[in-house]
Amino acid sequence: MCGIVGYLGQQQAETILLEGLSKLEYRGYDSAGICIQKNGELSMSKAKGRLKNLAQELEHHHLEGHAGIGHTRWATHGAPSDINSHPHASMSGNIAVVHNGIIENHNELRSKLQAEGIEFRSATDTEVIPNLIEFYLSKEGGLLKAVARTVKELKGSYALGILSKGEPGQLIAVRKDSPLIVGVGDKERFIASDVPAILKYTKQVVYLDNQEIAVLNADSMNFYDYDLNPLAKDIHEITWTAELAEKGGYDHFTLKEIHEQPKALRDTMTGRIQPGNPIRLDELELTEEQLKAYRRIYIVACGTAYHAGLAGKKAIENLARIPVEVDVASEFRYRNPIVDQATLVIVISQSGETADTLAVLRDAKAKGARVIAVTNVVGSSIARDADDVIYTWAGPEIGVASTKAYLTQLVAMYTLAMKFAEILNISQGSDLDELKSALLNLPEKVEEALAMNEKVRAYAETMFRVHDVYFLGRGLDNVTATEGSLKLKELTYIHSESYPGGELKHGPIALIEDGTVVISPVTQSDLVEKMVSNLHEVKTRGSRNLILTMEKHLDIVRDAADEVFILPDTHDLITPVLAIIPLQLLAYHVSLLKGFDVDKPRNLAKSVTVE
Ligand code: F6R
Repeated sequence: MCGIVGYLGQQQAETILLEGLSKLEYRGYDSAGICIQKNGELSMSKAKGRLKNLAQELEHHHLEGHAGIGHTRWATHGAPSDINSHPHASMSGNIAVVHNGIIENHNELRSKLQAEGIEFRSATDTEVIPNLIEFYLSKEGGLLKAVARTVKELKGSYALGILSKGEPGQLIAVRKDSPLIVGVGDKERFIASDVPAILKYTKQVVYLDNQEIAVLNADSMNFYDYDLNPLAKDIHEITWTAELAEKGGYDHFTLKEIHEQPKALRDTMTGRIQPGNPIRLDELELTEEQLKAYRRIYIVACGTAYHAGLAGKKAIENLARIPVEVDVASEFRYRNPIVDQATLVIVISQSGETADTLAVLRDAKAKGARVIAVTNVVGSSIARDADDVIYTWAGPEIGVASTKAYLTQLVAMYTLAMKFAEILNISQGSDLDELKSALLNLPEKVEEALAMNEKVRAYAETMFRVHDVYFLGRGLDNVTATEGSLKLKELTYIHSESYPGGELKHGPIALIEDGTVVISPVTQSDLVEKMVSNLHEVKTRGSRNLILTMEKHLDIVRDAADEVFILPDTHDLITPVLAIIPLQLLAYHVSLLKGFDVDKPRNLAKSVTVE
């Protein structure tokens, strides 16, 4: 996730920007840069990698001046590199911009500007912004009007900090769907994407709302909507400590990331899914002929990403009617799998660095297979080595247990499955449209599911001392059960296992005794009755059943449950996106009740780069 900081006042901007950027380091990033305005000049310094690279560069070449913007980048469009780092300048160097978010229509805008003779240096979506502002500068008469005209043309999400050679001592900030605050000091102003960046200097802030523009000078600030109507904004006092601020006000990164899931889903679907229109995955060029020529499709991943693969198999088989095999990477690579030119391999990895998954990718490519990667990290080894990359725009995940990355992996796999169905012309348009609408409604439904937090916490109090938990599910609910069980294991160290509902009587039912906790998502309409009879089987042997279901199934499940969590209703194929939320929250609360470090569970690493 990118970070923005900006300064305007009496002090040297360079020091304040570096300090601010260092407070955003916890968010993860791959490059950093600053731009300082002095005597009608804009000077830049950028460096790939850690912030210390930029600091070292600046030690040798200080940038003097009292106004500046800085940025830490988490690459989206264009690999991590000096040239793709922010700030970005217009071709003439008159305008400099830092940007968080994604400009969806950047290709269109780039072509428009190229037709006007503007040349681009980077592979980023951001570079269209300073160029468009400059393009409108003479036409609109003044920076503010040019900015207002520009932002009306941008589609997507953005928080912007803008400097112009022509307006010394002025900083313009804009926000749409990406957070941005203005800090207010004594004859100084700040901007930041995140509170920690400026907390050392001021606790007085103005929160920009969507589609608002701030025009800042050291001793004044004015706010406008996109039609340049003035807005009255309140100044708020921040009461967070520095540590709380890093976590966005949440007690832990894990909880923050669980709550970031609606945004992560929106970002991952933006520009790709629209009812009535074909799926847009510009990053994947796959013809009907090529897809039909594949004799087998494998989905390969580890841990939580593997669970997203299990749901992906179901989606591809259901929608595109192509058989798919799913395997964990450490098994797949040593089982002498049949891989050749007629094989399509889909690897899923949040970090893009998991050793076993990367090895599968490389082996498969060496044997002539095509590899599609679904990953969250631009420029990661897996992203670089794959033939095609579908990014999940979850932003950096800091909590060791995967939460928001999992949801975006699920949605990326649904998107890919719909794309396959469209390429092969298999699923009915209206069925796909229904699914697309349901997917687009998910962010709000995830919000609804998150509202269960208190209920989940209360339930956690009733069971956090148990030694074993069993998760049961059928069909896609088995995927949720398996992922729910993994979350509980890794965050709470409680022994837990997951079984398909129908497999119980083949052995595991022997483990059920008086008081055993059984947790079961029951969301698949065609399997509700079968699952409920399995739940009765354990209940009669003394289990305490928690059932996660929708209101519409309540009459059938009620008798089999000791406790019920009601999930928002959605299309059966995508229920795993919602059903996992209470299970993530449950693992979180149980971990806290047991006094564990929820963000850094024992023995685990965020990125498993060894076999
Ligand atoms: C569980 C978890 C792990 C990862 C697995 C794969 O919460 O985070 O199971 O999912 O190590 O990691 P990536 O997706 O980075 O390849």
